[in-house]
Amino acid sequence: MSVNAFSVPRNIVYGEGSLAKLSELTGKKAVLVTGGNSMKKFGFLDEAKSLLEKAGIETAIIDGVEPNPSVETVRRGSEEMLAFEPEWIIAIGGGSALDAAKVMWCFYEHPELSFEDIITPGSMPTLRNKAKFIAIPSTSGTASEITAFSVITDTAAHIKYPIVSGEMVPDLAILDPALPMKMPAHITANTGMDVMAHAVEAVASIAATSFTSPYAVEAIKLVFANLETAYSAPENMEARTAMHNASALAGMAFTNASLGLVHSLAHKIGGEFGVTHGLANAILLPYIIEFNKQFTDAYAQVEELLGIDCIEAEIRTLNAKLNIPETFKTCDEVDFSEEKFNTVLDRMSVNALADPCTLTNPGTPTVEDVKAIYMVAYNGK
Ligand SMILES: NC(=O)c1ccc[n+]([C@@H]2O[C@H](COP(=O)([O-])OP(=O)(O)OC[C@H]3O[C@@H](n4cnc5c(N)ncnc54)[C@H](O)[C@@H]3O)[C@@H](O)[C@H]2O)c1
Ligand SMILES: [Zn+2]
Repeated sequence: MSVNAFSVPRNIVYGEGSLAKLSELTGKKAVLVTGGNSMKKFGFLDEAKSLLEKAGIETAIIDGVEPNPSVETVRRGSEEMLAFEPEWIIAIGGGSALDAAKVMWCFYEHPELSFEDIITPGSMPTLRNKAKFIAIPSTSGTASEITAFSVITDTAAHIKYPIVSGEMVPDLAILDPALPMKMPAHITANTGMDVMAHAVEAVASIAATSFTSPYAVEAIKLVFANLETAYSAPENMEARTAMHNASALAGMAFTNASLGLVHSLAHKIGGEFGVTHGLANAILLPYIIEFNKQFTDAYAQVEELLGIDCIEAEIRTLNAKLNIPETFKTCDEVDFSEEKFNTVLDRMSVNALADPCTLTNPGTPTVEDVKAIYMVAYNGK
């Protein structure tokens, strides 16, 4: 017997036009946290602001959250919150903006804490004494709007820290597909394959349960059926809606069942080479399913439910349609020189094995296994 829990946001509003939910909020002050300029450029920031004004809520904006947000950005945002004293924190943007806002919220509620104080999973104290949190994602990928996670980078040490606390699960997630519709094709592809990786890893996780797997399987189905259309026909609202919902559904599964080796290896190769998270996942996913199949029949069950013969072959076909390369060696997003790969391989393999996501991967992989997977994903078969 074991006691489990399943936690998701208290409310999820979804579908085209759901951004208008902001006009129904009650309160005096809200802060909007966003990234570089896409939300401003496409008018969503102004729209959010005027919806809040309609509700009689005064707003302040914290912008300029960079991709892979830093401890300094989080501290700057929390100081602006301390000066403005909002009762609502509304994050609007990609996973980076949402993640940064979550930790800004923590330091707004507890300014005495240091970043080191919250690194240990579950160490974050109670939030919601000053403000509640709303997440409005503009990518269909990380599912930060659903999860208990935030990834913050210590830029001085070049380390990405996954901060884990059930306290950070948003009070409300607003899934309006009009926002991700503006993503360029390559970001649609990379973030969309991140959704696939979340769902496939959640279903194969040793912590998967009947509360998590149905969401993961539905997300896998939706990605197979819609990602190629969202990539090649960006204005297709049906495909965008399906992908946005799939991201959140995969999030409901993985925030409760956790992930596996794909994310462990992607985190560390991302740290060494700077390759985009979703792209690294997309390349690694077929190789890791091939490896994991010896330890679990979870993939066979998904294949049966979806009526397909081989899930990793289907993923390879989808990757090809999205112009995602088969190997790191042939990936030109960043410099993947053979020399550097050979230099970092041992260190990267040790670090990937130690990543918290490895804990829920099926089987008991060794450092030699991780190294062999990196080598085949670099060179191909
Ligand atoms: N919290 C979690 O559960 C979780 C899970 C996985 C990854 N992450 C983290 O999330 C971050 C990645 O987030 P992401 O993949 O959403 O990307 P991102 O937020 O870093 O954004 C990527 C780029 O896309 C642009 N962009 C975003 N939305 C757009 C839109 N609608 N139209 C046009 N351009 C748009 C951004 O300006 C940026 O340049 C990483 O730091 C990663 O480690 C968090
Ligand atoms: Zn991911």
